[in-house]
Amino acid sequence: MDFELKTLSAADAAPSRTDALIVLVQLESKPGRDALSRWVSDAVKAQDFEPRAGKLLAAYRPAGFGATRVLAAGIGDGSAKSVRQAVAAAVGSLKGSPARKITVLFPAAPAAGAVRAAVLAAADASYVYTTTRGKADGRKLERVTIGVPDAATQQQFFDQARGTVAGVELAKEWGNRPANHATPTLLADAAQSLARRGSGVQCEVLGPREVAKLGMGSFMAVARGSEEPLRFIVLKYQGAPKAAAPVVLVGKGITFDTGGISIKPAAEMDEMKFDMCGAASVLGVFKALSEIRPAVNVIGLIPACENMPDGRSLKPGDVVTSMSGQTIEVLNTDAEGRLILCDALSYAERFKPAAVIDIATLTGACVIALGGVRSGLFSSNDALATALQAAGEVALDPCWRMPLDDEYAEGLKSNFADVANVAGRAAGAVTAAKFLQRFTGSLTWAHLDIAGTAWKGGAAKGSTGRPVGLLLEYLLAQVGVSQPAVRAVRVRQRA
Ligand code: BES
Ligand code: MN
Ligand code: ZN
Repeated sequence: MDFELKTLSAADAAPSRTDALIVLVQLESKPGRDALSRWVSDAVKAQDFEPRAGKLLAAYRPAGFGATRVLAAGIGDGSAKSVRQAVAAAVGSLKGSPARKITVLFPAAPAAGAVRAAVLAAADASYVYTTTRGKADGRKLERVTIGVPDAATQQQFFDQARGTVAGVELAKEWGNRPANHATPTLLADAAQSLARRGSGVQCEVLGPREVAKLGMGSFMAVARGSEEPLRFIVLKYQGAPKAAAPVVLVGKGITFDTGGISIKPAAEMDEMKFDMCGAASVLGVFKALSEIRPAVNVIGLIPACENMPDGRSLKPGDVVTSMSGQTIEVLNTDAEGRLILCDALSYAERFKPAAVIDIATLTGACVIALGGVRSGLFSSNDALATALQAAGEVALDPCWRMPLDDEYAEGLKSNFADVANVAGRAAGAVTAAKFLQRFTGSLTWAHLDIAGTAWKGGAAKGSTGRPVGLLLEYLLAQVGVSQPAVRAVRVRQRA
């Protein structure tokens, strides 16, 4: 799907030919005297349309307009969040229609982040997964034109948004693929194809032999129970001088999580194909970086394998030796995410990173704590936590900081190893983070538990592409090319 940014007034938009013209209407906005503005203000006066966020009014071939469909979409206070809601409703309402080319018009100057919100919402509301659906039709929408009073002021944010959409959609694609169409090998192939010439991305894939040589005994132990060979994916994006310390992103890549010998119940086990959404978000970020080309250095690390029950599987009580040298008593083979991440965190040290952020569908407990609204954020570093939280707010991909008091690590004590891989049921998302923290040494580290936010269940089952938006906003803020709002938040926090 194509996006286009144009300088367009309400007067110019009214006669233009398009399959749908969506005009965003703010509460108490002063109506212009052109035909489109009068159409809206008549409806408001007649109480047929209220410009609150999410409210819609649609007309088919109204006289005097060039568009086949004209929609007024309320944006209430005009904030990015309201714009997202409005565009989601308007584009969502067109999903069954034959509309292919549409225009989303901001009649007045958009608020900070509003253009990006519109682009992302239009993409999200028209997204269709097709890869394994036989002859199913794909996305109908071909082009979205964003009309604003002054395109030049929005160009940079628009370009970032378009790159972000590419990343979000790649993350959705790999998240949604069934596990037999998204094996560790296929995931590595996807990473490798990001490293096309001229993309700015490089990729290296390690297999079982190289991983054994590195001493990743914990990662290897999880992969033992599967016929599918593990992969350790290393992605590099160099946008800044070589000497600049990179940000390392580590994504959990369990392509299917049965629980292993500590097997999960059957209900909803299919959703464990989404257990590589952390990995998918790292792939998505690299896709977006290759399009946006910001001046940052980023490393992506993805340990990828299946967690299966088998004659060779890891067993409860087994003790494994991690790359860090710490021994781990595996009391529950279903707590496998931390077992593959700990070795990837040890590997991260060699890059002398400015920050390391791991992204993982790590615990059901995080879903209980925060639901599907905010990802769990854990960090021993206040500045990094603040920056990630601010990026989440600006990107409308929010997270919430959780505690890391040492008392939470009590339950991880083992009589047979340096550490156990599980504590009790209490504060399960925090004890998982405490386990990871043991492998971060002197790194500036944060952990995002996306178990509740990476996908939706039920009728709308599917990957959300989160937290690609948050991560990109964080990376762009590092080089000062983010939305003005994020800079304002950061300056306030410094003051
Ligand atoms: N991938 C799961 C976490 C998960 C569960 C995410 C449900 C989303 C929905 C993870 O590997 C896991 O199984 N965690 C266990 C940990 C427990 C054994 C300490 C969990 O959360 O039950
Ligand atoms: Mn598990
Ligand atoms: Zn898992």
